[in-house]
Order: sequence, then structure tokens, then C-alpha cells
Amino acid sequence: MKSQEITKRWIDFFEKRGHTAVPSASLVSSDPSLLFTVAGMVPFIPYLTAREEAPYLRATSVQKCIRTGDIEEVGKTARHGTFFQMCGNFSFGDYFKEDAILFAWELLTSSLEDGGYALPPERLWVTVYEEDDEAKELWLKNTGVPAERIQKMGKADNYWNTGQPGPAGPCSEIYYDRGPKYGVEGGPLADETRYIEIWNLVFMQYQINNVRSKEDFDIVGELPKRNIDTGLGMERLAMILQGVENMYETDQVRPVIDKAAELSGKTYTSAETPGDPHHTDDVRMRVVGDHIRSSLMLIADGVTPSNEGRGYVLRRLIRRAVRSMRLLGVEKACLPDLLPASRDAMKGVYPIVETDFARISRIAYAEEKAFLRTIASGTARLDDAVKESQAAGRPLSGADAFALHDTYGFPIDLTLEMAEEAGLKVDEPGFRSLMLEQRQRAQADAKGKKGGHADLSAFQALLAGGETVFTGYTELAGESRVRGILSAGRSVSEAATGDEIELVLAETPFYAEAGGQAADTGLITGDGFVVEVLDVQRPIKGLSVHKAVVREGEISTDALVQAAVNQERRHAAEQAHTGTHIVHAALHQILGPDATQRGSFNKAGYLRFDFAWGEGLSTATRSEIEEVANIAIRNNYRVETNVMGLAEAKSLGAMALFGENYGSEVRVVSIDGAWSRELCGGTHVANTSLIGSLSLLGEQSVGSGNRRVEAFVGMEAFRHLAAERALVTELTELLKVPSAQLSDRIAGTIAKLKNAEKELDRLRREQLVAAAARLIDTAQDASGVSVIAHDAGQVAGADDLRGLALDLRARFGSAPATVAVVGVSNDKPIILIATNEAARDAGVRAGALVKLAAGILGGGGGGKDDVAQGGGTDAGKTAAALSAVVDAITRR
Ligand code: ALA
Repeated sequence: MKSQEITKRWIDFFEKRGHTAVPSASLVSSDPSLLFTVAGMVPFIPYLTAREEAPYLRATSVQKCIRTGDIEEVGKTARHGTFFQMCGNFSFGDYFKEDAILFAWELLTSSLEDGGYALPPERLWVTVYEEDDEAKELWLKNTGVPAERIQKMGKADNYWNTGQPGPAGPCSEIYYDRGPKYGVEGGPLADETRYIEIWNLVFMQYQINNVRSKEDFDIVGELPKRNIDTGLGMERLAMILQGVENMYETDQVRPVIDKAAELSGKTYTSAETPGDPHHTDDVRMRVVGDHIRSSLMLIADGVTPSNEGRGYVLRRLIRRAVRSMRLLGVEKACLPDLLPASRDAMKGVYPIVETDFARISRIAYAEEKAFLRTIASGTARLDDAVKESQAAGRPLSGADAFALHDTYGFPIDLTLEMAEEAGLKVDEPGFRSLMLEQRQRAQADAKGKKGGHADLSAFQALLAGGETVFTGYTELAGESRVRGILSAGRSVSEAATGDEIELVLAETPFYAEAGGQAADTGLITGDGFVVEVLDVQRPIKGLSVHKAVVREGEISTDALVQAAVNQERRHAAEQAHTGTHIVHAALHQILGPDATQRGSFNKAGYLRFDFAWGEGLSTATRSEIEEVANIAIRNNYRVETNVMGLAEAKSLGAMALFGENYGSEVRVVSIDGAWSRELCGGTHVANTSLIGSLSLLGEQSVGSGNRRVEAFVGMEAFRHLAAERALVTELTELLKVPSAQLSDRIAGTIAKLKNAEKELDRLRREQLVAAAARLIDTAQDASGVSVIAHDAGQVAGADDLRGLALDLRARFGSAPATVAVVGVSNDKPIILIATNEAARDAGVRAGALVKLAAGILGGGGGGKDDVAQGGGTDAGKTAAALSAVVDAITRR
């Protein structure tokens, strides 16, 4: 049975049982916490969690999916595909376990004539979650599965979730016994190659959070409704129904394998076991078949190769396919042969891969070309490094791997693979630490550029004289000495009024922007000079540079100075920084430890905090965060700073920023001991009540999977609340109701306004009709037909004219009559003509008349004999158009 037929039977079966067929969603998941659609249920997550009301109670789909977690297994087993199609049936609060089990059994075992897949029942095995006796009973009671073919499994196998916070539940899986040739007796517990899982029925009942792994998470509550989510691996069923050895040999993939065999001159033999001489090549061909198809489908869904996220997955798939072809001995570009083979195998189900093939192939072929260039330039270098390492009996060094990456664009996984083929390990940690160093250099450069320094050598020279001592943790003013002055990036010995300079002091109380805290501002004064500090940066580690303007006098190197930080601003920044730690702790308390910090910024009176979270926070959650924060402020917790070893800090549970490089000695800022503990180099208030208050602004998404909260603190929080209160006062005065009734009143006023608008509309129409009574007297005779030809002037639109014309026409009763009215709307004339039956019998045709009149008005139109409408461009021709109508009727 062809894949297309399998999916058709699936949809038909469930449609007949009241399910709405929903087309596959894109591989690019709209859920920001998931890189790709990994299961049939992904597009339905909002309905499964009842975040949105499902538009149907039952649904069915055949969903495109990508999973690359087991990419290394592809080709080596029968069942690991990076792209696959999941057939699913879903119930949103409708049927539950019993029907889900019945449906599955019926579809799998009923005859081909009855629309089923006709699998022999004695080949089917079932697993249930170890605590789900109910499911076991239902299988026993309602299907022919004997007790000895029902096995219990634990959370890892039979408790399904996406690996993210969200819906989950116990599941029951159906396995197919491929026979003794494929492994030992004993059911899925004994052998998952012989007994292959084909269908998973998930009884979705719970909401999970704090997902530490697929089997380690917290169940945080019941879903509002019990749902069914099932997934049948289309490729696995196809493999069984097509009688082939593995999913790569099914009708949608095999043609690519055949093409790879043809290009390489190898014979594909279905070799399954590593000992088989054909095995290695066969695996490579299966990798090619799988990866080419996945790439085709990903590009079709809008993914393009890049160095991160989805684009990186695609790049890796294409590169692995190209590498496999090279290992099969084909060095030329082969996607121009392979991709069309995959297209032809897939286009029956996904016509887009054919209609959009020009674009898809352009992207894929360009990526292959670029990669072949990379390989050509890097392979010689890698071969040398491999020989050297082998001779020295050591792994390939981190430095070699880094050089390959940096100079030749060799991704580390390619180096690992190629080294492995030569039987060599790679010093991966060494490679990673070189990568990290490079990233830090890039960051320092970017920082430097922000300060306007293209060239760091002047700073390096100053740093040679020693690091800047930061005294600002304890003092906000102090004496110091000018170590250096820079003007336009070059060292100078002095500067005078008006000069913009960069100033380096021996020691400074000024905080340089770091760790999300904005820089201090303030004054540096000395004998006859005043310098205003606008910003402070650390372009290179250890050196604080004040960006400043000389306001008075002359300053020279070695001068003694008084450095004084703007205290009010610093205090407000400290309120914000401690506030940031409080918000972070509150988020962890309320959302859990998954809400990890992704970035933060705080300055006088304001803070923002970015964290990993997949969905928007409800108003209630936002209020809760604000309340926890303000209680912490009111509790007047002590804020303490300690310097300690990194290991000790970690053992105390201090939160560190992922990806940040900390030294062995770290500074830990704690609020009320363990209430909040973070590694932090910033400055803070001494106790939380000094923050005053914290007022949360909105919350928003900042890129995939990340949210941002913003808040005001201290006086700014007060000002923000005061401004909101002033607004409420203004509104209560304006609307003359107490504040508690404001929103009702506003909603009421809006509703009234809408009614008033409707009423106004109605009145206008009535007025036109009243005018009609007078117009009837203007009727003139046109060879036996009464004609009203009226210029209505400005009107709201054609509806007004139509109302008027029909009303006038009715007033003539059965006497032959025609009404022609022109009105102007939006500077354009509109004409409407209505005839009654007697006039039509007398040969008057509204459509023809409108055509004539609209032509004169500089436009066009037409319509039926009884009522017709047209429009023009020149309202100045209204009189001419109307008299042409009268003339035409007269002369008919
Ligand atoms: N969502 C379930 C799975 O992917 C059916 O296995």
C-alpha cells in the first residue's frame, strides 16, 4: 500500500467518525519554545491546554514532523527518520481512553475492503503506563489482545510530553511484531527492533512544568479537560504494509537511495547488521535518502541554511548528505540529481515541492556548492593535522580543530566525523575554550566600538601601568590622579574647555557599564578645571574609561582630581539593580527555575529583565510578581555582598548567567540570605526597603521563547503610579463616576456611541425619504412614462441613493415610472436608476440608461432592467447625464 493511500485511509476513517480533517501545519512550529513541529499535536497545543477554545471537538491530521535528536541513528536502525509524518486523531474534552483504544484497534485490524489496514491481530502488542490499570482493562475488555501481549512500562516510555512545559499524560503504545528474523521473543520489553512501535495513544490529562528531562518533571495540575492525542508513525506503517526492511525503503524515500546507488555505482543491499560488508555503504545511502527528503521539506516550509537555530539544522542535514555521498565516492555536486528524485517521490502528497521547486533547488544547490568549496580547502589541512597527531599518538588538538573552523569554516561536527574515520579523537574541550575566547574578544571589540575606539592600543598602553581600582562599592567620591587622556582615540597630555575626551584615572568611584547596570555620571574636578563625566566603559578588561567633556579650564595628565559620582542617579540605579534581582527571584518563585535570565538592563529608576519563557504572562501572574517583589521590599531584607570561590558560590545555589565566563573568585549578592543569590559585579542598595516600591509595566515577547518584563522603581515607580492615578482622576471627573465604575462607564459610553451612529444613519435615510415626498411633484412626462431626474447632492453612499430611488418608484403605484438619481460621495458621482414594471413593459431599461448616464459622468456601470447603478468621475456633468436619461426615455 502506497504512503498516499495509507494517509487517505487514515483521514477517511476518522472523518467518518466525526473528526474534522485538519491539513498539516508547517514544519516551522508556531510555538516559540519548539524549533520544529515534533508531533501531530503541536499545532493543537492551545486547544489541548484550553488556552484557546477548540473550533471542533474531534480532529484528525497527517502532520509533517522533524526530529533531529537521534540524527546519529539515522540509517543504522529501521525506524529513525529526521523527517516523518505523524497520523493523529484528537479529542478535545470529547471521547477519552475507551474510544481512542477502540478506534485504533478497529482501524489497524479491519479489512482492506472495510477501509482498514488489515494487520493480523496476533502480530499486535500493547504497552500501558505502569500505573494505568484502567487502560489495560479497556484493552482486555474491548479488543482481542490477550493479557500476555499487554506490557507495562515506566515514565520514560509511557508518559508522553513534548519535553517542554505543557500538556502531558500517560500513554499506551501499539507495537507490531516483525517476526523472529528481527530479534528475540518477549514483546517490546525485550526488543524494540523486532517489535516496532507504530502508534502511540496519549491520554492527556495533566499540565507539567519544570521539565528537567523527558522523564523528570513536575506535574503541576490537571488540564481543564481530558484530551486524546495520538500519533501513528506513517513511515513505520508503510514499511510494514509495503513489506520492506526499514522506513528508508518505503515509496517516499527509496527512489533517492536508488539515485545515490546509481551515482556512486554501488549496489544497495538492505544490509542491517554492522558485520555485513555492505552495511557501511547502505547506511550512507539511507542517510542520504533521509536527509535529502528532510532538507527538501524544510526548505519548502521556508527554512534557509544558516549558522543557528533551524537554519543550522538544515545546513547540517545537507552537509551530512553531501558528506555521505563523498564517502560513497561521489565528489561532484550531487543534489541536482538527488533532490529531483526526492521531489518526485513527495509531490503526490505535497504538490508544493514541485510548484516551488525552482526556489527550493536554488537554495539547496547553493548550499551544496558552498560546502564543497569548504571541504576542498579544508581537507588537505585536516589530513596534515591528522597525520601529525597520529604520528605523535595524541588526539587532534583543540587548536587544529579551531583553525579548521576559523580559517576553513569546517563545522566541529565535520571535524569530529572526519577525525573519527581516521580513528582519531578530537580535543573537544580545547576547541570549545578557544571558541569562547574568540567570542569574548569579539564582545570586547564590540564594546570598544561602542565607546568609539577603533584601536585599542592606546588603552593597552594605559593598562600596562596597572588596572583601574574601582572604589565605588563603598565610596561615591574620592581623590585620584589622571593616568591618561585620550582625544579622538589618541593619547594627549592635556585638554581644554569644550574638548570631548576619554579619561583614565588611577582609581575611580565611577561604575563602568557592566552586568546590565548603566554607567555612573558625575563630575571630575581639580585645580582650575571641571570635567563632566557622561559615560563610563571598560573597553578592555581592567581599564575604566570615562567619556567626558571639559567644562572649564584645562586638565592634564598626572593632575590630582576629585572624582564625584552623581549620587542621586547612582542610588536610583542601585534601586533598579536590586529590583532586578528581586524580580528574577519572584519569577523563579512563581514560574519555576525554567524562567532563566536571558539578559537585563537597569538604570536610574528603570529596569528590564529578559527570561526564557514560551508564553505571555497573564494579568494575574504579573500582579503576583509585582506583589512578591513589593512584599520583599517592604520586608526590608538585608542585601549582602561576599567574595568567594566559584565552587562555593555554586554550592550556595547562586544563580549565574548561562554562557558567562566567571573567574575563580566571584562576587555574590544575596538578599535575605538565600532568598535571592546571584553572581553579580553591580552595585546595590543596602536593604530592600530603600527601593521604595516597584511598579511593573507591560510584559512582552522578545524573540522566540523569550519574554521581557519592565518596571519602574523608587521615585519613578511613584511617578508612574501617580500619573496613572491622575489619569483616573481626570477620567472620573470627565465621566462623573467613582473610579470603580470607570470601566463600566466607558464600555457603556462606547456602546451608546455605536447606537447613536446607527440612529444617525437611520435618520439620514428618513430625511431622504421625506425629501422624496416633495420630489414626486417634479416628475415629468417622457412619452407616457413619468420620470424623476434628481440631483441629490452630497450623499453617504450608494445605499442612500438606492433607498431614495426605490421609495420614489413605489409612490407611482402601477403607472409607468422611472427614477434617476445622482449623488456625490467622496467627490465621485454615483447614479442609480430604478424602473417599475409598467415602465419596463413600455421599453425602459435601467441598465442601459445607467450605462449611458455613467458614460457622460466619465465612468461606467450597468445592471438589470429594474435597478442599476453606475459611477463616474465628473460630478459637473450631473445635469447633462440626467437630461440624457430623460431624452432617451422620451425618444425610445
Ligand atoms: N504526541 C504523541 C507522540 O508524538 C502521540 O507520540
